[in-house]
Amino acid sequence: MARQQWSSRSTFVMAAVGSAVGLGNAWRFPGIAYQNGGGAFLVPYFIALFTAGIPLLALELSIGKKFQSGAPGAFAQLNKKFEWFGWWGVGTAFCIAAYYSVVVAWVIDYVALSFKVPWMDKAAAEVFTQGVLQVSSGMFDLGGFSHVVLLGLVFAWLSIWYCIRHGVASVGKVVKYTVILPIILLMFLILRAVTLPGALEGLSYYLVPDWSKLLDINVWAAAYGQIFFSLSILFSIMVAYGSYFGKDAEVTKDAMIIGLADAGISFLSGFAAFGTLGYLAQISGTPIAEMKHTGIMLAFVTYPEALGQMPGGRFGVILFSLIFFIMLFTLAIDSAFSIIEAIITAFVDKFGWNKERTTFWFCVIGFCASLIFATRVGLYWLDIVDHFVNEFNLIAIGLVECIALGWIFGAKKLREYLNSNTNFKYGVWWDVAIKYICPVIFLFISVTYLITNLKNPYDGYPVAHLVTGGWAVVALTVVFGIIMSFIPTKDQSKSVENEKVTV
Ligand code: PHE
Repeated sequence: MARQQWSSRSTFVMAAVGSAVGLGNAWRFPGIAYQNGGGAFLVPYFIALFTAGIPLLALELSIGKKFQSGAPGAFAQLNKKFEWFGWWGVGTAFCIAAYYSVVVAWVIDYVALSFKVPWMDKAAAEVFTQGVLQVSSGMFDLGGFSHVVLLGLVFAWLSIWYCIRHGVASVGKVVKYTVILPIILLMFLILRAVTLPGALEGLSYYLVPDWSKLLDINVWAAAYGQIFFSLSILFSIMVAYGSYFGKDAEVTKDAMIIGLADAGISFLSGFAAFGTLGYLAQISGTPIAEMKHTGIMLAFVTYPEALGQMPGGRFGVILFSLIFFIMLFTLAIDSAFSIIEAIITAFVDKFGWNKERTTFWFCVIGFCASLIFATRVGLYWLDIVDHFVNEFNLIAIGLVECIALGWIFGAKKLREYLNSNTNFKYGVWWDVAIKYICPVIFLFISVTYLITNLKNPYDGYPVAHLVTGGWAVVALTVVFGIIMSFIPTKDQSKSVENEKVTV
């Protein structure tokens, strides 16, 4: 069978923007910007975008395109010794898929709850921890499932399977909706947020630049970390998406468009988040500085708290709750299925399996793996796995990728390939980014990360839990990568010939 291809350039760009633009834009960027200098944060952020985000995005797309293969296969064709870190990325992607799907499940629960808006009558924190998650006390005390989350999870995996069931052909059809709709809904939320009383004060929290922060190296690390997470790079996703390109795709231009669209949407979501927080501060008397500005709590507690007090009575609350949670759902779903699609691409390329059947079974396996996060202690484990796998593996894989591709294979050779079919060519700056800037930043962030995590257990969790949910999972993904690289790859050229003969 010939490899599938994107039906058009705009379909690919939309799918890639869909993967990149996700919860990270809506709930991670605004809070990080606020903590790291407000408006001044845009300086390190855009520098990170151009010196690392876009160069790596172009790198991953182009090797996928060149070798017409997911991450492990593409790396293996560059050099057989590189295959393992492709699988390391796939293992990491699997862990992320397992918990990201649970967040999608919560969002689905919240879309359903938006018709009842319990956050109007009860504290939003209570709705979240007791009503939805039904959190139990001890971390090893699984306490059974939260049935609400379990049900949401079934819907989440059905949606994921539905969107990718025919590979990029079905992805191409759904991204039209899952990319455009959240942007429209975001515009509504922004309009509502900035016209609320107190909004201006919220926005000034978000945007007033604190230039002194630019001297703090951690602010720079935060900017780079956010860029990598937000662009969905280093998890083998963009290599897989690039592998469905035709020969004439112009990666240099597309990487720029995707990077700028992602950054733009992040910046805009800050207006919705901080406008709303400003309103909440005014009516509840809680100072903005004491509110949660980022992560799970912002989306499921602070924001619903504000939604519950929207002007316009019950109808207004229902309307804006629906807009907000449908926006989150459409933001998250195309990021979630891009991770699964990347994993499936890697396996199908390695073993020559039937893609549609593999897709079905991987959704089943993914669902089973995500069950642990649907238990009553799921929230804690999600937090730990996210912190280690996402943050540590991400940076470590980045370091290995830059050394292998930039130094051992050669950035110049890759750039020549990248520039070969376009009039929009990248200059030497691209080599400098891949060979020097990215590795230095990766090294710095991972060393700081190791030091902080060894000195202070993350978030005050008991060390035993951090070892099980954090370091052990990190180690497992590496071992998985190494084992997979020793398993022989099915020679697909032969099987294609055989198919032709038998037809
Ligand atoms: N880029 C996504 C976001 O911003 C996050 C993500 C990362 C999704 C990696 C899938 C894989 O939310």
